[in-house]
Amino acid sequence: MSELMRISLSLENDLLEEFGRLVDQEGYENRSEYIRDLIRERIGRRRWQSGEEVVGTLTLIYNHHQRGLTEKLVELQHHWGGQVLASTHIHLSHELCAEMIMLRGRGRDIEALADAMRRRKGVLEAGLAVSGVAGAGVD
Ligand code: NI
Repeated sequence: MSELMRISLSLENDLLEEFGRLVDQEGYENRSEYIRDLIRERIGRRRWQSGEEVVGTLTLIYNHHQRGLTEKLVELQHHWGGQVLASTHIHLSHELCAEMIMLRGRGRDIEALADAMRRRKGVLEAGLAVSGVAGAGVD
C-alpha cells in the first residue's frame, strides 16, 4: 500500500448532501473510502475496455436440476481453464447452487466466459465484478 496523499475537492452543496447520504446508506466508514472505491471501479472499467489483464469474480446462481447444466458449466470452465484461478460451490437449497469463480485474464475473455454461462437455461444470475486495484491482474 503506498503513502496516503491528501487532496481537496469542490462540490455543489446539494451534491455534497446527496454524497453524505450515500456514504451513510451504504455503510462506509468515511467519505474518503467511498471515493477510493469509486476511483478503483472506474480504473477497473478502463482496464477492462483496454484489453489489459484484470482479476474478476463471477458469481453464478443456478438450478442444478436443469438437465445437463452442471456438466456444461464444468466444461466451460475447462475450456477457459487458463482464466480460472479457483472456484467455490455452495448448495443453497434443494435445487439452487451458488458458485463463485475467480478469474484472471483480458476483460473480453472473462466476459465471454460469463456470457456463455449466463446464456444457459437454468442459470438465474451471473454477476461479474472486476478489480481496479493496480497490479492485481499481473503475476
Ligand atoms: Ni450445489
